Amino acid sequence: MTFGACIAGLGMDVPVRIVTNKDLEAVVDTTDDWIVTRTGIHERRIVADGQSTGDLAVKACEDALRSAGITIADIEMIVLSTCTGDTNMLPATATFVQTALGASHIPAFDISAACSGFVYGLDIAHQFIATGRCRRILVVGAEAMSRVVDWTDRASCVLFGDGAGAAVLERCPPGQGILSTKIASNGAGACLLQIPAGGSREPLTAETVGTDRQFLHMDGKAVYSFAVEIMGEAAMAALDAAGISPSEIDLLVPHQANIRIIKSAADRMGIPLEKVFINVDRYGNTSAASIPIALTEAVRTGRLKEGDLVVTVGFGAGLTWGANVMRWGQVNP
Ligand code: ACO
Repeated sequence: MTFGACIAGLGMDVPVRIVTNKDLEAVVDTTDDWIVTRTGIHERRIVADGQSTGDLAVKACEDALRSAGITIADIEMIVLSTCTGDTNMLPATATFVQTALGASHIPAFDISAACSGFVYGLDIAHQFIATGRCRRILVVGAEAMSRVVDWTDRASCVLFGDGAGAAVLERCPPGQGILSTKIASNGAGACLLQIPAGGSREPLTAETVGTDRQFLHMDGKAVYSFAVEIMGEAAMAALDAAGISPSEIDLLVPHQANIRIIKSAADRMGIPLEKVFINVDRYGNTSAASIPIALTEAVRTGRLKEGDLVVTVGFGAGLTWGANVMRWGQVNP
């Protein structure tokens, strides 16, 4: 039997520390004007000493459970997307989150799809719900990007921020909630955005650390060109699969990487900017957390209401990309 899956609750958490562009002028050779003009970012949140991706994820999950009006006992799986896990490779950050939430003996695992991670996570969770294996799943996107950026590289460190967002995905009648999803990747672009050292190919040594290969390396221009093409394309593919035209969309919730990429995607789809949710100015690029944080704020500010048609679309390292089309159900703020 096939079931539908809809988001029944949303939550988020961001660190309290705000780092403005002016603050960054003291860290690297940059200006507020350059960052705002090229990216649309004004400020971002940065974790405190000792605070981890998992800590943010736990708070976002608690918020999502509250918003869904359920407890952790009602959850049958935790799918967490991150590229900045609490430890390097194992165990999964989802297992720390599971324990902190008071759950045990349910599957809790991480997925790695960088900034497309939440879109991937929703699709994975959807399959478990559609087949009847699970009734309610926590889908989380959480990152502490400030831990992996090179704070001497002005071309990348100004772009990112930390945060977490979570959704309770719940069984619903077919035809409600998620109407279609498209996910894809192209490993030919893997070298464009990566953390070269720290894995099995290039374990951490004094030499790799000395050359900063444990930090994020990015070909910004190439990623930009890819992003402006793929955002519109991915969203259109998901809309086609659902048999919906862009003019019917009530809200587009894109990955918040750069205002120019967001505007170009909306433009290519013929969607006016009033129908696009934007918070990149306040959080920067929070990778896998950006879409669930944006969805949470969209609901809490009344931009996303019951019955609305919403499209989420993301791109990221891999290269990966994907989009979900959803008919929004009742979600308590
Ligand atoms: N402040 C001042 N000057 C800067 C800065 C900075 N922070 N960063 C770069 N510059 C300089 C460059 O050195 C260059 O100077 P030069 O001409 O003397 O060499 C000049 O500004 C122009 O640099 P460009 O790279 O051409 O700037 P561009 O307009 O391409 O913008 C940016 C750069 C913002 C990085 C853009 O390419 C971009 O947004 N790319 C996409 C990045 C992205 O979204 N990555 C995340 C992917 S998601 C994931 O999976 C994590």
